[in-house]
Amino acid sequence: MIMLGIETSCDETAVAVLEGTGEPSPRALKLRSNIIASQIALHRQFGGVVPEVASRRHVETIIPVIEKALSEADVSLSDITAVTATHGPGLVGAVLVGLSAAKALAVALSIPFIGVNHVEAHMYANFIEHPGLRPPFVCLVVSGGHSDLVYLKDYGDYQVMGRTRDDAAGEAFDKVARTLGLSYPGGPAIDGVAREGNPQAVRFPRAYLEKGSYDFSFSGLKTSVVNYVANVEREGNEIFVPDIAASFQEAVVDVLVDKTLRAASEKAVTTVALAGGVAANSRLRQEFSKRAQRKDLDVKYPSPVLCTDNAAMVACVGYFQAVSGKSSSLDLPAVPNLHLE
Ligand code: KG4
Ligand code: ZN
Repeated sequence: MIMLGIETSCDETAVAVLEGTGEPSPRALKLRSNIIASQIALHRQFGGVVPEVASRRHVETIIPVIEKALSEADVSLSDITAVTATHGPGLVGAVLVGLSAAKALAVALSIPFIGVNHVEAHMYANFIEHPGLRPPFVCLVVSGGHSDLVYLKDYGDYQVMGRTRDDAAGEAFDKVARTLGLSYPGGPAIDGVAREGNPQAVRFPRAYLEKGSYDFSFSGLKTSVVNYVANVEREGNEIFVPDIAASFQEAVVDVLVDKTLRAASEKAVTTVALAGGVAANSRLRQEFSKRAQRKDLDVKYPSPVLCTDNAAMVACVGYFQAVSGKSSSLDLPAVPNLHLE
């Protein structure tokens, strides 16, 4: 089976070709191409993603990116078995571009169309590089739009154990980076500068919420950083960005690791997986590996390029759906606030 995946839910126009033997297993997969046309430079001048600008750029870029993905995979359109695209969550105008392209291809080629959930796709990025990974496991999905703690019982069978009550983890990174005068996107900027800082320099608050809760909240932490910076500057002192970045990052990482490991022990799984743009964070990966090892848990995370938005992960969900005989109707809408079922 040759799956074409399309992802346009935010600021990356991405298309991938994923081959599979038809078995419902990560071992069956071979990624043939994974093209990502990033809009980061375009949005950086505004300090964040401008939805209308993103949609227009997707329209301009989608066809060349499809062509490049096909040529790099050395396949032609007639080789494609099914076409799959994100139908939410995301910016509605952006989602619509990839979704419409996928439907048009499906009609023109008389092949199935499969609409997928972007958060589910982030989790499935783990299957592309870890052929031995099998459900059940607990997955932490942390990106610019989501912080979800998910018990993945089986392919397509999820229990959302917790989610953010306010800002997503990546959103907190982006906002704090702006306060510290770092460029967009804030996650990689903080990750980089924090390496020169002391994570114990400032004790920022960790929001654990009610006892036993798996939900997250990052807006209090963000406000605390903003107030800290304002106070230091009011006193006429200069802030030392690496220390603040490292201390903020430590507060986020502590809560994410604690709650995920607790969820893993509640569900008695032997594996935890990380997914989403924030899963590219070097400190998060390091702490997870260290603390999971103490509990005899296996930790999996995708390469950084498969943590941030890409279409390989979209093709991967589409593959497992196609193998189980599922496809979507051509009137499937773009759903900006789509939740995991
Ligand atoms: O998954 P993604 O590409 O898009 C969404 O679905 O939102 O995630 C983007 C988010 C941004 O907030 C970005 O700052 C964050 O992921 N991010 C990181 C790192 N790389 C990307 N956050 C922390 N550390 C990183 N290395
Ligand atoms: Zn994403």
